[in-house]
Amino acid sequence: MNGALLLVGCGNMGRAMLQGWLAAGFVRPDAVHVVEPVEALRAEAGALGVRTHALAEALDASFRPTTVVLAVKPQVMAAVLPAYRPHVAESVVVSIAAGIQLATIEADLGEIAAIRAMPNTPAAIGKGSTVVFANDRVSPQQAAQVTRLLSTGGAVHHVDHEALIDAATAISGSGSAYVFHFIEGLAEAGTQLGLSPRTALALARETVFGAGALAMAADTPPAELRRQVTSPGGTTEAALSVLTENDALYILLSQAANAGYRRAVELAKLGES
Ligand SMILES: NC(=O)c1ccc[n+]([C@@H]2O[C@H](COP(=O)([O-])OP(=O)(O)OC[C@H]3O[C@@H](n4cnc5c(N)ncnc54)[C@H](OP(=O)(O)O)[C@@H]3O)[C@@H](O)[C@H]2O)c1
Repeated sequence: MNGALLLVGCGNMGRAMLQGWLAAGFVRPDAVHVVEPVEALRAEAGALGVRTHALAEALDASFRPTTVVLAVKPQVMAAVLPAYRPHVAESVVVSIAAGIQLATIEADLGEIAAIRAMPNTPAAIGKGSTVVFANDRVSPQQAAQVTRLLSTGGAVHHVDHEALIDAATAISGSGSAYVFHFIEGLAEAGTQLGLSPRTALALARETVFGAGALAMAADTPPAELRRQVTSPGGTTEAALSVLTENDALYILLSQAANAGYRRAVELAKLGES
């Protein structure tokens, strides 16, 4: 990557992305500047070889990064943005904050090239999904550079309407947490059936990992993969009938995704204030 990269906020998602960029060799550690107020998180980032700062004000006044990634909580975005205005006129600014609209970012940073991206934490191991929407000031070169950067974390999908970022937030951005919770629940069910907690957790993790990998590797649709496990009158059919009766699992997932979507819309309103 050409030029410097500035990461603002190195919490859970910022660190996951940073690890992905460095592991892929896409950026040299000394070309990355991280602003993170929490000392322990700053130390973790520093251990990766990047340059760290506690505050935006600690950046050199002449610092002009080619790429800026905003990875702070949506609730603090309005307070964080103004300090970066002097540094970003030439940058492409990528916000990963749930709900925060490009108009909000442009209101604080000026008429800049800006991208909303919604990654997820598997980006730390190159297995993430990121959904991207760019404003019309992003040049083809900037778009290509940001796509390559985000690709170090896994798949990148472009959408044509900014509102679809909120939909993606509810599916993939938050979705890894749904899967982690599914693993917890499957492991708990295993212990209730007499497996040791250790074995139950191992089986739950391996099953989600294996089924996910098979779903990715096979051309076969997931519905067909499911049918291949489900012999008539067998154990899987008995178990699945609980999940499918009255579309129980679909309805639960739809309710969960809708709650996430509504929260993204609320966060957008908070960002405007
Ligand atoms: N976690 C996910 O799976 C995920 C997925 C997709 C998108 N996102 C988005 O990613 C963003 C970060 O989420 P997260 O889970 O990584 O949150 P997080 O763990 O709280 O990380 C945010 C970090 O930014 C720091 N920060 C606060 N003010 C700052 C400032 N002025 N300058 C620089 N850093 C500052 C926070 O410090 P304090 O704790 O002191 O405030 C915190 O360490 C959110 O907007 C979220 O919507 C997260």
